[in-house]
Amino acid sequence: MSGAPRRGGRGPPRADTLTITMLPTQVTLVEVGPRDGLQNEAAPVATAQKIELVHRLQAAGLKEIEATSYVSPRWVPQMADNAEVMAGVRRAPGVRYSVLTPNLKGLEAALADAAARPDEVVVFAAASEAFSRRNINCSIAESVERFRPVVAAAHAAGIKVRGAISCAVGCPYQGEVTPDEVERVVVLMKSIGVDHCGIADTIGVGTPRRVQAVMERALKHYPLVEISGHFHDTYGQALANIYACLEMGIHTFDASIAGLGGCPYAKGATGNVATEDVVYLLHGMGIATGVDLDALVDAGAYISGVIGRASASRAGKALLARRGVAVAAPASA
Ligand code: HMG
Ligand code: MG
Repeated sequence: MSGAPRRGGRGPPRADTLTITMLPTQVTLVEVGPRDGLQNEAAPVATAQKIELVHRLQAAGLKEIEATSYVSPRWVPQMADNAEVMAGVRRAPGVRYSVLTPNLKGLEAALADAAARPDEVVVFAAASEAFSRRNINCSIAESVERFRPVVAAAHAAGIKVRGAISCAVGCPYQGEVTPDEVERVVVLMKSIGVDHCGIADTIGVGTPRRVQAVMERALKHYPLVEISGHFHDTYGQALANIYACLEMGIHTFDASIAGLGGCPYAKGATGNVATEDVVYLLHGMGIATGVDLDALVDAGAYISGVIGRASASRAGKALLARRGVAVAAPASA
């Protein structure tokens, strides 16, 4: 191409005009702190404190809250009080509560108390065989066969089923995971009637173009409205990955208050992207979330105090500092 030489020396030609991408005007946040956040805590958190956290999150305007999980208490002792948490939460109008149910036993327990039923359940598979075995003690194919009756029973009870696909970018045991491997699980989840496809970067290794490549595969099988991103922030890429998803029109994201979280079976993985940071990003771009950031920061300060560790949320800490509140140093410091 002829024309004026570009500034900046060699390298491939680049468009001189700025491309403005239309982003969604509204985002749904699924708060996973009470589940993903607290499942990974070494010290027990009292049931009453978990319930208080849910109350603070809903008071801050979150409309989707993953409250607990009905998994084996031997595998994840922190979630052993699942029924007490669900029974203790004062339901707020318009808020949907979800729980993890890896098998029929979990679903039956979740549905046992009619007054404490979740609005949604989550089945969770992995895109890597190694992680599937470590996390839920079976192969990917076996896990999907276990989910089949869970999906059918949940639907019969009028309950929506979200599917989470872990290790969608990388696996702590296998290493890199390809979009082909993820798409295979997306197709399996779809084939058993899972309503929603959550793409999870369990160990936070993804970068924007890699994440977009995986999301493209999910979009071949699920509509935009039924796809979400779940980004752990181990390598500090989660907000960039969320932005990359927004560019594709994806508008549902999991996030965890104070950046809590991790999976006990994903060695080295740190917390999810902090809800406060996601809300700060979105509001800064004029994207509505329905969340009151100040109240959210208070909820983050509350749970950080409970666990005795400084929040991992940069926005949360900055906003507290602006109010003149001393932010505790990390327990390990
Ligand atoms: P298993 O040992 O293969 O199960 O575990 P089993 O069917 O052989 O049963 C063994 C025992 O567990 C029996 O008890 C069952 O009754 C009991 P026993 O007769 O020995 O006394 N059991 C249960 N108890 C309570 N609730 C249940 C249940 N099922 C069986 N639902 C199982 C298989 C799936 C249960 C186990 O591996 C497990 O609980 N895994 C959960 C692991 C987990 O919770 N990981 C963290 C959540 S996933 C995550 O964090 C990733 C995510 O955030 C996305 C991302 O970031 O990637 C979602
Ligand atoms: Mg997770």
